[in-house]
Amino acid sequence: MSEIMEMLIRRGFLWQSFEIYGGMAGFIDYAPLGNNLRRKIERIWREYFVIDERAAEIDTPTIGIEEVFIASGHASSFTDVAIECSECGRVYRADHYVKEKLGIEVEETVEAVKEVMEVYDLRCECGGAFREPAPMNLMFSTKIGPGKGKKGYLRPETAQGIFIDFKRLVGYFRDKLPFGVAQIGRAYRNEISPRQGVIRLREFNQAELEFFVHPARKEHPNFETFAEDVVKLVDKFDNLHEVSLKDAVDRGIIANQILAYFIGKTRRFLLEIGIRDEKLRFRQHKDDERAHYATDCWDAEVETSYGWVEVVGIADRTDYDLRKHSIHSGEDLTVFVPYPEPIRVKKKKAVPLMNRIGPAFKEKAKKVAEAISAAEIDSEVDEIEVEIDGEKIRVGSEFFEIQEVEEEISGEKIIPHVIEPSFGLDRISYAVLEHAFDKDVVDGEERRVLRLRRKVSPIEVAVLPLLSRSPFESKAQEIVNMLRKNGIFTDYDDSGSIGRRYRRYDEIGTPFCVTVDHQTFDDGTVTIRDRDTTRQVRVKVDDLPAVLKELLNSEKDVTEFGEVFR
Ligand code: ATP
Ligand code: GLY
Repeated sequence: MSEIMEMLIRRGFLWQSFEIYGGMAGFIDYAPLGNNLRRKIERIWREYFVIDERAAEIDTPTIGIEEVFIASGHASSFTDVAIECSECGRVYRADHYVKEKLGIEVEETVEAVKEVMEVYDLRCECGGAFREPAPMNLMFSTKIGPGKGKKGYLRPETAQGIFIDFKRLVGYFRDKLPFGVAQIGRAYRNEISPRQGVIRLREFNQAELEFFVHPARKEHPNFETFAEDVVKLVDKFDNLHEVSLKDAVDRGIIANQILAYFIGKTRRFLLEIGIRDEKLRFRQHKDDERAHYATDCWDAEVETSYGWVEVVGIADRTDYDLRKHSIHSGEDLTVFVPYPEPIRVKKKKAVPLMNRIGPAFKEKAKKVAEAISAAEIDSEVDEIEVEIDGEKIRVGSEFFEIQEVEEEISGEKIIPHVIEPSFGLDRISYAVLEHAFDKDVVDGEERRVLRLRRKVSPIEVAVLPLLSRSPFESKAQEIVNMLRKNGIFTDYDDSGSIGRRYRRYDEIGTPFCVTVDHQTFDDGTVTIRDRDTTRQVRVKVDDLPAVLKELLNSEKDVTEFGEVFR
């Protein structure tokens, strides 16, 4: 086990799920510190992708009825290619196993895997031969209700809940594009052989934004905010570009401004929570790699001990999902977009000839005439088919006259396109921890320190009595209560030497330790120690909440806030 993983388990960030029963690959428990870290990352995500985007956030079921995933294409297309050993029965995800054993990137199709297997003698870890490769659907299926019940699936992405609510959402946004809708929640994928620890989970946390736009206006009103940001881009031909986002759009490296906008925003978000810029890049999916719904996709990838790992997918899903759900549900999922000025168009129209319709259709004549008037005509026609009380009737050209009329049209109905930044919070949280993990030497001794950004540190302040006895303990407890009342995540620790305690909090990334010492009882001051510099200052107890809040919300140095003590 890696040093960081050992620390994360020992100190209470992550635990193996079902541990006392031997565990199960693809599941992790968020232990107290990890849970706090992920929640804080989630909160910052919300600031960026909900509040700042003026987006709506919704929360929909994690189980979906079968119809949803038939329409979305997941029931038929959300597959990986699996290979099963004919001797021991072990199953592997083919592309990962081929890469691991042969160092070859293979396209994720049965045919491509077959080809590789014909050329190379690919064998299972046990030495056994493989059966024919076959696609395996990654969704967990379930049954809703008793008896035969209704077939359902655990959602593989939060996005579908948003598409399903689209009709309501259009009303909520008063028919105005563009608008964004976000969802944070669990997603489930029955990954074939999740051997990458915390990276490949079967139950994980997504934060997704679906940004609906006019298909002809793939622009973002705030693009300028990120236009000059220089970003590392690896295009689908594996060319590396280090260019500003504006240049990337102008040169056609990124297909449209909204994709570029969300690449820029994603980068700023990841840097803010502590991902290191030199370990971050954006990689465009190759043509054979894209999900069934996407026409273009850029992944944010971060470098970790598992190699480059995708943490965010930013996809142009076009109108794929809305169109499919509209066809399968029979609902109109369009938005009416008014023109700046109404336009006049010439149209062909069928005008009913009542003197002939009356005698021929008798009591149905009125309905037939109305149906003829309402019929859409785009050329000269010999007959019009109308439906009267469920009966289809062909009406010959002797019953109507085609006339050219001019109509005023005030707008058009369109199915919006959607740009989707989709974040995996588990991979992001883990990468943040890895990027923060560091070692240095303090007082001649090696120290392990988690250099987490202050705003994501699970414990913000630790209050430590210099000695574990009265009155140091009671004063320290008093300070803990005061800080907690001020909304600061505060811990108390009185066990072991003060040096050991500082190191304990350095290891879990607590940015500040407050120590109650002898001088506290003389002049009402305590020390604040900075994790990164290990410098200490003396501050009045009464000023602590304000000083700590300012420190936690900034990058300021602790020495700006009081007399330097060490
Ligand atoms: P991969 O290629 O690694 O399987 P993916 O391309 O299937 O990932 P997406 O479908 O784009 O991933 O999912 C969006 C985001 O959800 C990813 O960027 C990732 O952060 C997260 N994610 C996807 N699958 C998993 C998983 N099995 N465990 C943890 N996070 C995941
Ligand atoms: N919503 C994108 C994905 O989960 O693949």
